[in-house]
Amino acid sequence: MIRELRAWARTHSERSRYTPVGIAFHWVMAALVLFQIAWGFYASWVPAGGDKLHAFEVHSGIGLPILLLAIARFGWRLMIPGPVNDADRQGWQTQIAYVMHYLFYIAFFGLPLSGWAMWSSIAEPGPLYLAGVLPWPQLPFDQLPLTMRWQIMDMAEDVHLGFVVMLLAIIPLHVAAALKHHFWDRHDVLRGMLPEIPDAEDPRGASSHRPREPRIPQA
Ligand code: HEM
Ligand code: HEM
Repeated sequence: MIRELRAWARTHSERSRYTPVGIAFHWVMAALVLFQIAWGFYASWVPAGGDKLHAFEVHSGIGLPILLLAIARFGWRLMIPGPVNDADRQGWQTQIAYVMHYLFYIAFFGLPLSGWAMWSSIAEPGPLYLAGVLPWPQLPFDQLPLTMRWQIMDMAEDVHLGFVVMLLAIIPLHVAAALKHHFWDRHDVLRGMLPEIPDAEDPRGASSHRPREPRIPQA
């Protein structure tokens, strides 16, 4: 099974492309994480009360699936290596890109885990739901003394904010690098992370697309 999957993945990576699975992981998680950052700040800004609680229920409901996606994506990444593309031959720039990918993966685990720890260390933790539907357990902090729970809350809050600050620093760099490689260096790296449109005009692919006939001006 793994051998077949790898063989299938090679049909994409040999053309410097991520697989459709890798591409789906990337864009779904990018959208969820960007939403979470904006919504997290919004929820923190809402005045205390019912609306704030609801805002944090939405935040945790969307944040917890990111943990499951992170596990699935990490497993996938271990099994299926990414493609080697033009941008991978850039020496130190490539090393920085890889470090940023590792940091992203660490944040994909660290943010939901620290959020989960915060939620579970509140004196009367409310129920948690995955995507707002499936019940999700609390971490087993209920037997701990209250002071210890506060310490956990404090620590988890610092870790959560630390990861948020890290993402706010590396996402713009990551996006700027992707755009620079595409528009400036004309590398194939961004194209490899975009969904493939089979009939697209691609000078390297065996495209069946032909330029349209010039229009004959009407008399
Ligand atoms: C990738 C997933 C997540 C991202 C990007 C994210 C982002 C954020 C942001 C930007 C804030 C506001 C700044 C701050 O106080 O740190 C925040 C706060 C918070 N998040 Fe998350 N979060 C994620 C997952 C979760 C999850 C899964 C939970 C709960 C199960 C959670 C619980 C909280 C709580 C309780 C706060 C308030 C912290 C405070 O008041 O200091 N987060 N999050
Ligand atoms: C418009 C926004 C974005 C663009 C244009 C973009 C583009 C790209 C490209 C071209 C790659 C392939 C890089 C390579 O193979 O060296 C990539 C990889 C990656 N990107 Fe993004 N990205 C964007 C947003 C994000 C966001 C918001 C996150 C995180 C929340 C993210 C996380 C990652 C990760 C973890 C990888 C490594 C892929 C893997 O090997 O699994 N990206 N991105």
